[in-house]
Amino acid sequence: MTYTKRPDGREMHELRPIRAEVGIIPNADGSALFASGKTVAIAAVYGPKILHPASMRNPEKGIIRCEYNMLPFSVSERARPGPSRRSKEISKVTSNALSSVVDLSRFPNSVVDVQIMILQADAGTRCAGINAASMALAHAGIVMNELVTSVSIGKIDDKIVADITKEEEDWEEGEGPTDIPFTMTSRKNDIVHLQLDGNIPTSRFKESIDASVKACNKILDYQIRALKGEKINENEGKK
Ligand code: CDP
Repeated sequence: MTYTKRPDGREMHELRPIRAEVGIIPNADGSALFASGKTVAIAAVYGPKILHPASMRNPEKGIIRCEYNMLPFSVSERARPGPSRRSKEISKVTSNALSSVVDLSRFPNSVVDVQIMILQADAGTRCAGINAASMALAHAGIVMNELVTSVSIGKIDDKIVADITKEEEDWEEGEGPTDIPFTMTSRKNDIVHLQLDGNIPTSRFKESIDASVKACNKILDYQIRALKGEKINENEGKK
């Protein structure tokens, strides 16, 4: 069976309904919620504060330390709490992406902690977490050269689609599913994170980059609106 229609009725390049809001955790220095359909992520930023142990301090620049976690009941089969290989990998790619836009020279010898929690997962959680973290850092007043925006581009059978769901990730027929999470900077559209789960011919890779630029530009608009104080909830009234 060829893939001609998305299971949730979206156009190939259409994003899921978005929720975006900052300031959701008053005790944090900065915080944000970002949701894409049923994938819901929150991020909290604490710091900058002096880094321990002292041997890790760098008098030239600070570090961004990210921790990504899923709530046990965010997925259909309970996720074991605590670190896993997957959560360590996602924390690392998230730290790298965020460190590329933060002006680390502003906080020598220090650390900014970024805690990301996935409340509900329906694929694309690393992207939702990065979007929330980017907003939370800006909300905390951490100096950034640009924001970062993340989206997962899929190749389902022979179609390039934006913001894939778990159901699409599990599509087994035809050429099968490919999941390409991209993170881009807001002004230069530099790619600061790119992963690939599946296969895509080089000839079609350019198409996936174009799709991610378009999708990230749309998502950026929501991030900026939320940072200006708007509470966006396109999920309202939907189950
Ligand atoms: O979430 P993301 O797409 O960034 O990462 P993934 O490792 O490709 O996981 C895809 C999806 O699989 C997640 O979003 C969850 O919906 C699901 N998953 C799960 O059900 N249980 C896990 N322990 C991990 C992921």
